[in-house]
Amino acid sequence: MFITLEGPEGSGKTTAVEAAVKKLEEMGYQIVRTREPGGTPISEQIRNVILDKGNTAMDGRTEALLYAASRRQHLVEKVWPALKEGKIVICDRYLDSSLAYQGGARGLGIEEVLNINLFATENTWPDLTLLFDIKPEIGLARINANANREVNRLDLEKIEFHNKVRESFLALAKRFPDRYVIIDASLSRDEVAKATMEAILSRLCK
Ligand code: TYD
Repeated sequence: MFITLEGPEGSGKTTAVEAAVKKLEEMGYQIVRTREPGGTPISEQIRNVILDKGNTAMDGRTEALLYAASRRQHLVEKVWPALKEGKIVICDRYLDSSLAYQGGARGLGIEEVLNINLFATENTWPDLTLLFDIKPEIGLARINANANREVNRLDLEKIEFHNKVRESFLALAKRFPDRYVIIDASLSRDEVAKATMEAILSRLCK
């Protein structure tokens, strides 16, 4: 099973899934935790180019292509082999981030960005996408309050950009209701962790 975690900046998706991973491992499932962009040496190198705060001249389509390139390499080296071995892959961000950030917020167009991603992923869709939904003001405030969290090139975008990201994710959830579960990420840590676990378990039992 391929599970992806999506949401605006500071939605707490990484923390939310920690408890679920622990519990699933105790239940005997083999879990591979990974992230995009990155997750393999080549993909991490591409990540560094994309998120470098110095790369202010980067064109939107270049950005979208780099995310898709990083995604493909990550699928080839990590995700597909793990899925073949019957493991559960839980990935921070995937194709939906490209649709929301580059397609929606950057204005490149959802269908255009989807097309390059269908080429990159050979139609590999997640079985479950957890959308950690939160108002950008709250998410960005969380990031700024966390001294350990590095601020990247996309975090520096204006609030309107982050509002468009959120709206795009919510629209994607409507478009793909079979695989999307929306989690209210403004709730307490424990409540978010509980909702995360419930969503994964109910998909596993389907
Ligand atoms: P990261 O530090 O991993 O952020 P987060 O903890 O919020 O996931 O940085 C990834 C950034 O890249 C984040 O701002 C979202 C953005 N992004 C895209 O714009 N398009 C994509 O396809 C992906 C995967 C990420």
